[in-house]
Amino acid sequence: MNIIVYGTGYVGLSLCRVLSNKHNVIGVDIDSDKVNLLNACYFNNSNLKFINEINENEFVNTDVIFITVGTPSNEDGSTNLEYVFNVADDIIKCYNLYERDKELVIILKSTVPCGTTAKFNNYIREKICGCNKFRVLFNPEFLREGNEIYDLTHPDRIVIGCDCSNNNNKEKELFIDLYEYNNSIPFVTTDYNTAEMIKYAANSFLALKISFINEISELCNKLNADIVKVAEGIGYDTRIGNKFLNSGLGWGGSCFPKDCHSLLYEGNRIGCNMEILKSSINTNDRCVDRAVEILENEISGKTFAIFGIAFKEGTDDIRDSVSVRLCDKLLNKWYKLKINDPMALGNAKRYYGDKVEICNNIEECVKDVDCIVIATEWECYKHLNYECLGDLMKNRNIFDGRHLLYNRVPKGFKYLHL
Ligand code: UGA
Repeated sequence: MNIIVYGTGYVGLSLCRVLSNKHNVIGVDIDSDKVNLLNACYFNNSNLKFINEINENEFVNTDVIFITVGTPSNEDGSTNLEYVFNVADDIIKCYNLYERDKELVIILKSTVPCGTTAKFNNYIREKICGCNKFRVLFNPEFLREGNEIYDLTHPDRIVIGCDCSNNNNKEKELFIDLYEYNNSIPFVTTDYNTAEMIKYAANSFLALKISFINEISELCNKLNADIVKVAEGIGYDTRIGNKFLNSGLGWGGSCFPKDCHSLLYEGNRIGCNMEILKSSINTNDRCVDRAVEILENEISGKTFAIFGIAFKEGTDDIRDSVSVRLCDKLLNKWYKLKINDPMALGNAKRYYGDKVEICNNIEECVKDVDCIVIATEWECYKHLNYECLGDLMKNRNIFDGRHLLYNRVPKGFKYLHL
């Protein structure tokens, strides 16, 4: 098949890579520098190319268009749909300029509030003249940043939102053909609004699970119970499951905060009181404040080594990272910060400039500090020789914001956690 993917963020780019194993794929992005870079990176993949704008030949021959452009938060928590509708305009422009016969399938994957796909569908239908042999599907993406290719090729389920007059089996066959999935993957085929809600419900439920364990963790600290054992003890219950029960500084990144706020905004808009969601966000915000309080009360010096600035392990992404939020708060209180991260130091440098010391090297990072603060759950921080690093530090303190060393607290250190 001939496929166009609009948006080459981590979802779009992974999609391009996976689909180009079998199909001809064109990635479209408005950022010319990125397009040049991607063409240079993938020059030996003859099934894949990147462009800024589609032309007649590409449009006329395309079977499927995927849309994976960003849907960032507006100030008030609502979702900015500008990029999604820019793509709609682009498709309309192509339809009105070029003639095509075969049916086009437009698959919207960007996370959008309930009602958007229906609007998007009508918007295109109303504005194109003549031939309108196309159908729009909404197919939410559940892949995790850092695990993109595995998650794309081994999904737990496929959700397809379609115009209900369509034949559901036809959509399932299309996806099996596109991705070469085997027949055992569950398909949930439904209407647009339900499919859109599934994505928000999934992300906010996962965020809630983390907020819940963080609330229990606060209680455990006060009542002298062991939060890591509590999480293990409840996680064996298959109804609860052991995933997303790591307590600590809480959830961040480009998805959970945006999606929880968007759902809350939608709830408020239509007069639904989303108490659980509100509490989940508040509990999450409180984690960083609790961390600052502990650090202020328990550590006498003000020079800290921050281990991890990415929003989670396995990525260089610092968007909405709780580590960044923690550092910002500490900097406001005149702390001196030295930051290490296996992947995200470039982004940290761009964000902080000279306000912090960027340290590629762990020894350099801990030199003369009063405390190590583990802020991101990077596995590599579990395996350092803390006893030796302690010799370089001014004071032997560790604040473990991710419970990484909880079961292996280095000797001779004051160990603090949430
Ligand atoms: C999340 C979802 O997990 C994906 O299913 C979804 O497709 C994606 O958002 C999206 O909407 O695009 P991602 O943002 O990559 O994926 O990150 P997660 O692995 O879910 O972690 C999110 C945050 O929760 C991180 O800050 C992480 O440190 C934190 N977390 C995660 C915890 O604090 N405790 C845990 O037990 C797990």
